[in-house]
Amino acid sequence: MPIQNEQSLTIGELFSLRGKTALVTGGSSGLGYMMASGLLQNGARVYIASRSRERCDDAARTLSSFGECIPMAADVTDAVQRGALVKELTRREPGGISILVNNAGSNWGAAIADYPDAAFDKVLRTNVSSVFSLTRDLLELLGRSASPPDPSRVINIGSMDGLQVPIVQRVPTFAYSASKAALHHLTRTLAVELGPRNITVNAIAPGFFESKMTDYVMDNFREDIEDDCPLGRIGSPADIAGTLLYLASRAGAYTNGAIIPVDGGTHLSKGKREWQS
Ligand SMILES: NC(=O)c1ccc[n+]([C@@H]2O[C@H](COP(=O)([O-])OP(=O)(O)OC[C@H]3O[C@@H](n4cnc5c(N)ncnc54)[C@H](OP(=O)(O)O)[C@@H]3O)[C@@H](O)[C@H]2O)c1
Repeated sequence: MPIQNEQSLTIGELFSLRGKTALVTGGSSGLGYMMASGLLQNGARVYIASRSRERCDDAARTLSSFGECIPMAADVTDAVQRGALVKELTRREPGGISILVNNAGSNWGAAIADYPDAAFDKVLRTNVSSVFSLTRDLLELLGRSASPPDPSRVINIGSMDGLQVPIVQRVPTFAYSASKAALHHLTRTLAVELGPRNITVNAIAPGFFESKMTDYVMDNFREDIEDDCPLGRIGSPADIAGTLLYLASRAGAYTNGAIIPVDGGTHLSKGKREWQS
């Protein structure tokens, strides 16, 4: 029996983001910048948001060589600034936005005895609470462009550290791994809640990529990091952009509530460390 309403299955069509509008939080550096670049290079109009206006403007200027990239300075943990961001997006995009990438995140490393309550709270607020709040505040705008064959997409950036217990002796990041595990579960809960509104919610759980956040560990533990990864390397912009494009495009329209590791298999590996006597 012929398949009804068959659409083109070429990669060019299946993964195209022509006519789509995206918001990438934390799009001014690191993974957010790599993902914004991937979205732009495949036809989307992209808003990037981060706290520093200067860094946001600089990144948007560079990214604009690939397409229309609009900087919007905002701290996603601040309700007033979040409100202003949503208002401005609504004014500029009356037809709605179709892709929200919740990527802004923070980390804190300290030994357990010295781990400050305030730092723990800040990491949880940035990596979990603000993702929930921004997604909730953008539901109306995400819903405007959503349809059953082409749902709007919320893509949360979790971490392999939310899938495994990180090697805390190396860099003790208690709040971070707890926050990413929470974000993964929030992803599943929102997927069930928002699916009926034609909005999918998925997460990517990256391994190590070069960024401001990983400067310290890369400088001090790069060899160990590569040894821990079955593929023996850190991630590249193509690795993160490829998975994001799948989730954001027609290719990923039926994927909902998934947590996709992009870590070369690191979360499954025991690494090549010597046995300690
Ligand atoms: N790099 C990795 O190896 C790796 C691995 C797993 C997961 N991740 C996750 O990937 C995401 C991006 O991290 P990254 O490694 O690319 O770090 P990064 O280079 O430090 O980027 C973080 C981005 O988030 C923005 N940001 C931080 N707090 C914010 C806030 N309150 N409001 C708005 N923007 C904020 C930063 O800009 P401003 O400072 O201007 O605000 C920056 O653009 C994070 O969620 C991180 O946990 C990274």
